[in-house]
Order: sequence, then structure tokens, then C-alpha cells
Amino acid sequence: MAVVTMTPIGSPADDPAHAAESLESAGPLVLGIESSCDETGVGVVRGNKLLANEVASSMELHVRYGGVVPEVASRAHLEAMVPAIERACAAADLDLSQLDGVAVTAGPGLMGALVVGLASAKALAVACHKPLYGINHLAGHVAVDQLEHGPLPTPSVALLVSGGHTSLLLVDDITAKITELGGTQDDAAGEAYDKVARVLGLAYPGGPHIDRAATGDPRFISFPRGLSAAKDLVRHRFDFSFSGLKTAVARWVERRRRDGEEVPVADVAASFQEAVCDVLTAKAMDACAYTGTENLLIGGGVAANSRLRALLSERAAEHGIALRTPRPALCTDNGAMIAVLGSAIMAAGREPSNLDIGADSSLPVSRILI
Ligand code: KG4
Ligand code: ZN
Repeated sequence: MAVVTMTPIGSPADDPAHAAESLESAGPLVLGIESSCDETGVGVVRGNKLLANEVASSMELHVRYGGVVPEVASRAHLEAMVPAIERACAAADLDLSQLDGVAVTAGPGLMGALVVGLASAKALAVACHKPLYGINHLAGHVAVDQLEHGPLPTPSVALLVSGGHTSLLLVDDITAKITELGGTQDDAAGEAYDKVARVLGLAYPGGPHIDRAATGDPRFISFPRGLSAAKDLVRHRFDFSFSGLKTAVARWVERRRRDGEEVPVADVAASFQEAVCDVLTAKAMDACAYTGTENLLIGGGVAANSRLRALLSERAAEHGIALRTPRPALCTDNGAMIAVLGSAIMAAGREPSNLDIGADSSLPVSRILI
């Protein structure tokens, strides 16, 4: 029996301007479904306005395995989907007949998990006679900031840092043109956080735990900054590598334990976090310089990290770059990010997806709509 926790994130009632605004003029009304990993997300937006964002997480079911178990996640999506849709409709005071369209994550992600969301969205689209939009999850992480700060300035550089992906993107048009400048050659940043947390005896998912534990000295250990040496920058200027860092932390901790010494978790966590955030931030600044872009945006679960947000805002200010950081609850997986991108795609007049589209577990970020 799946245990799911329901977390409403933001509601129209949070915003006093909501009632006064004429929603009809503010863009397509779209329901978005997200099920690529362990969060069943259903969001409702009108253009860039958030009306509902219900997230049911099956995280508790995966904790004892130290990572997401795909079959368990798929089953939890099945159980959580209809209640999440009902809660989102209630929160947005929405009758499904009012919708302009249905958007859904079509990839990348876990195949079995994606299929549950896609089948649900297709059923809704057919039953309610609404167009369907199969959306790229990664592009959704970039688009979500529009709910907080309005239309994205173009071009923008986006630093996408999640559990499965770490990329620097050039966003010319969130509905049609995203180019990958570079990406991770091995582990994603979130994956490194999760693995290092395990080494330190912290629970899954490791990112938030390391974030909280990193109260020590960030200079206590000088951990390696992957693909940052001059010789690496020639071929991998905008690429990342975190597997060497993860191994360095594991070796340091093992040595300490072998010598019978206590592991200073706060210092190790802070030093590891500093190495990750230093590289991410330095390469993001360089990507802005290289592309002549003064707008930088972050997205994905690791974008919720407090040190990354602080270091980026410090360095962005030094470089005269305007930084957009969505609130942490919108950085991790949710349905609103899919709904807002679907709404932008509808407003841009793009053709809806065919009803026979399939999920694509390795959909590249450049394919925003399938
Ligand atoms: O974007 P996301 O919710 O799911 C994927 O699409 O992968 O990202 C999940 C990742 C996990 O690895 C988690 O440890 C990490 O985001 N994460 C964090 C924080 N919150 C979540 N990493 C560092 N600091 C955080 N505060
Ligand atoms: Zn994600």
C-alpha cells in the first residue's frame, strides 16, 4: 500500500491581486501533469499565473532503498493521480470543461512512471475534448520561473541542476528553441549530493540533508573541482563531472574511519557543497560571458540549495548579471512547471501533440514538445 504525502504549494488565496485580475485575458488555462520520477504533480495555471500546485510524493517508500525504485514509483503514481487531479481542480476552483488544454511530461524520466502520467493526460484530453501537449520535463524546470517573475527575457542562460541532469542551456525561446551548451559527463549534481549523503550516513534524498548539515568550514578540505583545469576547459568548457568529487569525499571519509577518527560531518558536507557550487557558479558565469547574455536562470531540484543560491547571487551581482531564482518549492518536480510551459506553447500557437505519442525516457532538452 503506497504512502503518499500531499503538499499544496501556493494557492490563489496567497495572492490578493488574484480576485481582481481578469483571468480571461491572461493566457490559456492549462492543467499540467508530472510523473517522471517519484512526485505525482498536478498544476493548474492561467498563462503565468499559478492557480493550483498539488504534489503527492512517494519519497517515503524509497527511503529504505536509498534511491527511487521505479516499479514502486509507478504504482504510487497510479494511486495518487486521480486524487491529485481532484485536489488541483478544487484548489483552482476549476471545472475541467473550462480548460483550454492538458499538458503532460512526456520525458525524460522513468519509463513506467512517465506512462502513468501520459495515460492520465490522454484520458483527460479525450474525455474533455481538449488538446494534449507532451512536454519536456527539463524545459519545464526552466519555464517554471515564469510563474514567479513573468516572461523569460530572451536569450537567457539556464543552469539546470536536478537529480538526473546537470546542464547549461541557452534559451532563445522557451516554447521552441533551447540549445545545450554543455552537460555532465558522469553524475548529475543531485546524484552526487545523494551519493555523498549516503557516505555521510544522511538520509535519501541527500540534497536537502547536506544543505542543512553543511554548517561547518567550506575550506576544511579542498575537494577537486571537476573539468575546471585550463587543459579541461579547452574541450569541456561548459561540461561538468562530479564523479571524481564523489569518490574523493568517499576516500577521505573512509580514511578517517579507518584511522579511528570521528568524521566531522558539518565540515565535510560544507567542503563538498562548496566544490559543487563553485564549479556550477563559475561555469554559469562563463556561459553568460560566452553567449553575451546578461540573464541567468536556475532550475531543477538542486536549485533549491541555499549555498548555490547565495553564491550565484553574489557572483551574478559582481558580473552585472540579472539572476532569476524560483522559490525552492517550484525548483523540485511539480505539475505547475508542466502547466506553465504548456500554456506558453499554446499561447505561441504551436500544434498540439498527437494522441498516440509515447513516453521518451531520454528525451533531449532541445525537443520541447513532442
Ligand atoms: O528536479 P528534481 O526534483 O528531480 C529530478 O528531475 O531529478 O531533483 C531532485 C534532486 C535530488 O538529487 C535532491 O537531492 C536534489 O534535487 N535536491 C537538493 C536540494 N533539494 C533537492 N540538492 C541540494 N540542495 C537542496 N536543498
Ligand atoms: Zn526534475
